[in-house]
Amino acid sequence: MEANQKPFTQRRAWKALAAHRQDWKTHLRDLFAADPKRGERMTAEAAGLFLDYSKNCITDETLSLLVQLAEESGLRARIDAMFRGEKINSTENRAVLHVALRAPRGASIMVDGENVVPQVHAVLDQMADFARQVRSGSWKGHSGKPIKNVVNIGIGGSDLGPVMAYEALKYYSDRSLTFRFVSNIDGTDFAEAVQDLDAAETLFIVSSKTFTTLETMTNAGTARDWLLQRFKGDEKAVAKHFAAVSTNAAAVAEFGIDTANMFGFWDWVGGRYSMDSAIGLAAMLAIGPDHFRGMLNGFHQMDEHFRTAPFECNLPVLMGLLAIWYNNFFGVPTIAVLPYEQYLKRLPAYLQQLTMESNGKRVTLDGAETDYQTGPIYWGEPGTNGQHSFYQLIHQGTRLIPCDFIAFIDPLHPLGRHHDMLLANVLAQAEALAFGKTLEQVRSEGVPDWLAPHKVFEGNRPSNMILAQRLTPETLGSLVALYEHCVFTQGAIWNIDSFDQWGVELGKVLAQRIIPELESEATPSLRHDSSTNHLIQRCRRLKAKTESAGSAGSVR
Ligand code: F6P
Repeated sequence: MEANQKPFTQRRAWKALAAHRQDWKTHLRDLFAADPKRGERMTAEAAGLFLDYSKNCITDETLSLLVQLAEESGLRARIDAMFRGEKINSTENRAVLHVALRAPRGASIMVDGENVVPQVHAVLDQMADFARQVRSGSWKGHSGKPIKNVVNIGIGGSDLGPVMAYEALKYYSDRSLTFRFVSNIDGTDFAEAVQDLDAAETLFIVSSKTFTTLETMTNAGTARDWLLQRFKGDEKAVAKHFAAVSTNAAAVAEFGIDTANMFGFWDWVGGRYSMDSAIGLAAMLAIGPDHFRGMLNGFHQMDEHFRTAPFECNLPVLMGLLAIWYNNFFGVPTIAVLPYEQYLKRLPAYLQQLTMESNGKRVTLDGAETDYQTGPIYWGEPGTNGQHSFYQLIHQGTRLIPCDFIAFIDPLHPLGRHHDMLLANVLAQAEALAFGKTLEQVRSEGVPDWLAPHKVFEGNRPSNMILAQRLTPETLGSLVALYEHCVFTQGAIWNIDSFDQWGVELGKVLAQRIIPELESEATPSLRHDSSTNHLIQRCRRLKAKTESAGSAGSVR
């Protein structure tokens, strides 16, 4: 029996960690007092990122047991299998090769006997050529005007990656172009995105791996109608105002987009791992091909670190193991990601899909139900905004919430003392969480007894500090790859498939059943549960009321 086939909770290291946790009474204050070099020792650095993990509730013994757990779980073999192009996404029988998307020209990564790296670079070159045409104004719309607006239509990984990268790297973007991102089936999203745009200057990028996703295809159809309205139904306009990013050429052609304007990728790229494939086209249009390649280089540096570094100093492995320590041994269900960088405001939303669609699984690779918790809930907000909102609970609430702080040494906008204040805040938050403030300290400040307990910070609240010199395309690539491989580490140890997403299917199927029940003129015969039936009836009744009031001319 292979090491990772042994049930998780039966592994030697799991049992040792469980016993170690039972005995755990140590406060971070004591750990730091006992080891004055802890804050320098418990650090690691790679691909432009520095990780200080010293403010975690761990000792050297914890760490060595966690590394042992990774080894007993076959993490090394699983990493190698991914990089070799093996079909480790077993429920979909697919290789998992986002690492090939950032492999340098000349590298070789085989899938089904074929080196995929040349194909990757052929698409990157095609994207770069298109980006240069649009950015230089040589790509003309149907009426001969250059493109000024780019609207990406996609959802999930076909939206969150491009929009996060666009926002994160806005500093490097061409400000003469306007970018919008439409994802929601709610018509408001489309309506607001285009309300001030001239269709003659607008390019739509329809981004969808499958080119069947309800939201994306509905928004793409609406975009087509909006464009054709401007060009009085002249279908020839579509070729100049629509590009597609997809693995499904047939569906792209059927939609009416010229496949010469299609940018492909492959089934071995998962949606939530696709921002560095052609799905990143909108980001490339914004920042230009050279910066996009810089971002890919950052991803690749972190890939190489993950593939080769010993687990003890491997950033994604360390972060994955720490997440497991809290999730499985402290019963902590959540991790906050707190970037102290306004440009990273969409990073938490991006990471929600990356982490939770990947590791929100309750069945192992063998189909057995897990008897342990898997994927934690990732969430967050940029600092310092969060400090004035939910940090109260992190500091003084009853729950333990490990935090990942992310900060940069150099500001992109050096305005007065802003950046020093920002940095001081992130460092202060980590310090306050770890060390807190004792009752004695509070009393010594003359606080009356009745108020003192409210002012105590118990501390001992863990955090990671991720520091980089400056937010660049390279550091963004390294940072995203860090989280991708952190998720991989967790999934490998839990023995789950981090690359499928069957859990999104049922709701989609039920929605398809309910759409005609809401829209039909004849009263449908409903066969749902009593709550769903009642809600559908209520929606129909109130919708009909609005419609009849509208036809009577009383609705704005
Ligand atoms: O419904 C979930 C999902 O399949 C995600 O995994 C994916 O990123 C998103 O939908 C969009 O899918 P597509 O790119 O095929 O439109």
